[in-house]
Amino acid sequence: MAISKLTFLLFPSLLPGFFCATASPFSFPPSPRASTDHVTTSYPNRTIAGVTVIDTPVVRAAEARAREHASDFVYNHVMRGWLFGVLLWNHHLQLQIQERSNGHPNATTTPTADATEMGTHLDLEVHAVAALLHDLGWDRTPDSPIVSPDRRFEVDGAVASRDFLSEHRHRHAELAGERGRSVWDRRRTQLVWDAIALHTTASISRYKEAEVRVVGQGIMMDFQGPQLGVTEAEYAAVVARFPQTGLRSGVNETAVWLCASKPETTYDTFMQPFGENYVANYSAKGHRVFDTITGLPN
Ligand SMILES: *[C@@H]1O[C@H](CO)[C@@H](O)[C@H](O)[C@H]1NC(C)=O
Ligand SMILES: *[C@@H]1O[C@H](CO)[C@@H](O)[C@H](O)[C@H]1NC(C)=O
Ligand SMILES: *[C@@H]1O[C@H](CO)[C@@H](O)[C@H](O)[C@H]1NC(C)=O
Ligand SMILES: *[C@@H]1O[C@H](CO)[C@@H](O)[C@H](O)[C@H]1NC(C)=O
Repeated sequence: MAISKLTFLLFPSLLPGFFCATASPFSFPPSPRASTDHVTTSYPNRTIAGVTVIDTPVVRAAEARAREHASDFVYNHVMRGWLFGVLLWNHHLQLQIQERSNGHPNATTTPTADATEMGTHLDLEVHAVAALLHDLGWDRTPDSPIVSPDRRFEVDGAVASRDFLSEHRHRHAELAGERGRSVWDRRRTQLVWDAIALHTTASISRYKEAEVRVVGQGIMMDFQGPQLGVTEAEYAAVVARFPQTGLRSGVNETAVWLCASKPETTYDTFMQPFGENYVANYSAKGHRVFDTITGLPN
């Protein structure tokens, strides 16, 4: 299958008419065309730390939204997570293409059976928006409109991102008429929601759609170092542009803050040990599924 045929499937917002019909506060290149080359697709792009990323109004707006609600360490983390995801996807895609042109999979260079199942379809806009907005639930500005008293932070981020897309869709629909309504359809919006809600649950997200999976894997790579084909040099270039300064202390403090301020959202999640180790009087006991089950009468 020629990968170029997938271009408009991959980037629904690049459908003809989208660009000429909108007035955007952001600058972007002219309407893209599907490449006739068998390997590459073409999309409006810019290069950050050596990584070519999709450059559309909604991606720019998501970046601005992330910046607005993030401390420096969080902003750098989401930018790295986005870029690492793009890099691992590019490596994955290269491998797929290589295998196709060889006519047989090269067993020694195929990372895992799971990776092969990811296919060749990634909606780069969905990936970008979800990666950029995945930590909105870490907004520590006073009276944040994003942070709820009763939902885990992943869900706060997912809900805020759905609201962001809804705003974007309405603004776009006003400018572009009916055409705008289908750009962020239910499926793409759901993928963003799922990718953010599941980004800390790799044991589930790695079996979901490529967008959900790549968002999670790109973010995890910020903690685990280069992997999944991403080279040391590529990784280092991203880190040089968005330094990891304060990553450990920042994540730790954020987790401690969440365990102290809304402990019931942290039980049975990866947050729980932060509460158990660092928050006075924190106790998950009695709140875990374990407690519910072992407390059954028979
Ligand atoms: C990036 O944009 C340029 C110019 O707009 C285009 O020629 C190129 O094919 C694009 N690259 C990708 C990977 O889409
Ligand atoms: C297949 O794997 C072998 C062993 O690692 C390697 O030498 C060879 O270059 C690979 N072929 C391709 C097309 O990647
Ligand atoms: C995490 O934060 C707590 C509370 O501020 C602190 O006591 C602990 O040393 C920190 N742990 C790490 C690994 O930074
Ligand atoms: C912890 O709980 C005890 C007993 O309820 C209470 O006296 C103490 O003030 C609490 N400490 C903190 C830091 O909340």
